Amino acid sequence: MIKGVNSTPPKAPVSAKSAPSESASSKDALLLEKRPVEVSAPISNLNSEGTSSANTHITVLLDEAVHALAVKPDGIYVDGTFGRGGHSKKILEQLGANGRLIAFDRDLKAIESAKAIGDLRFCMVHSHFAGMQAKLADMGILKVDGILLDLGISSPQIDDASRGFSFRYDAPLDMRMDQSSGQTVADFIANTTEQHLGEVIKNYGEERFAKQIARAIIKERNDGRAITTTGQLAKVVAGAVTRFEPGQNPATRTFQALRIYVNQELEELSLTMPQCLALLAPKGRLAVISFHSLEDRIVKQFIRDQVNTDNLPANFPVRAADLPQPKMVNVGKTIKPGAKEVKANPRSRSAVLRVAERTQVA
Ligand SMILES: C[S@@+](CC[C@H](N)C(=O)[O-])C[C@H]1O[C@@H](n2cnc3c(N)ncnc32)[C@H](O)[C@@H]1O
Repeated sequence: MIKGVNSTPPKAPVSAKSAPSESASSKDALLLEKRPVEVSAPISNLNSEGTSSANTHITVLLDEAVHALAVKPDGIYVDGTFGRGGHSKKILEQLGANGRLIAFDRDLKAIESAKAIGDLRFCMVHSHFAGMQAKLADMGILKVDGILLDLGISSPQIDDASRGFSFRYDAPLDMRMDQSSGQTVADFIANTTEQHLGEVIKNYGEERFAKQIARAIIKERNDGRAITTTGQLAKVVAGAVTRFEPGQNPATRTFQALRIYVNQELEELSLTMPQCLALLAPKGRLAVISFHSLEDRIVKQFIRDQVNTDNLPANFPVRAADLPQPKMVNVGKTIKPGAKEVKANPRSRSAVLRVAERTQVA
């Protein structure tokens, strides 16, 4: 039995090559000349809960993702990203009396919302999903029949101004999904170097003005004006970015990069994919919904490495029967939300669902 979940995920290396903006249609999109930036709403303009809209999340690719799991009534399933439970509830609907669903989330509000489920077949775990294999082993679960990951952040996280994910509101600069641990973006900015900050913004935000932005942020800090709010950060970034994409706030890419960095989102995913492979029983399904190309690349490459085991040079003298056999097979092609879903929920527009099935090969 594997013990001791690593509750402090490893430090994020800055190694990624690019991180397209979630709202950018293309990295080569037409750039606009600098224009005045939309003013952030003061936090006092929001409702009493500090949210700008209902505390709800519209589940993306709900039917497609749950269908992809091919739920067996007596199976054991994992929802690695509970959020507000849209996918979890649908999985529970398809499970029989002996089926089980174990859900993970590192956001305490997601954990709180799961209390409403009240189903003995369901268990909610407060953990980052890279702790999945160890947590399941602690529960005596070594194999499962399906795992779903719906990556990124939920609408309640974005829309709760006090979480600091959005430049639309002026709020403390936090951006942690798990507010019980880890450093906030304000902490990171207070302690990092200009070079490291520039690398984070460039690599995780694919921001062409990363150097200028990092310089402006560090100058502000070193001039005695600590950057502690989203409004301050958005303003400093806007002052450093001279051209940006139509309809996009100049701070979009910087906010995305800092969020990915402090939450170690890519490292989490890289650590979790091999665990999914180890956990899936033969014919077990993995379904992953990504929202930007860096995530999707990790998922795609991992699945490809399990599917294409024949990476030997052409004419290599080996019998076909002696070739390593695939540990996974692709199930269908990638699935994206249709026009109807995107219209109803614009936040779904960049979603990509990949599905793979575990083979018998150990
Ligand atoms: C897009 S939402 C999931 C929404 C969910 N499928 C639903 O229908 O309500 C992503 C959720 O995953 C959580 N999350 C993201 N990365 C995580 C990680 N590495 N470990 C655990 N939870 C994570 C976030 O806190 C957020 O609640």
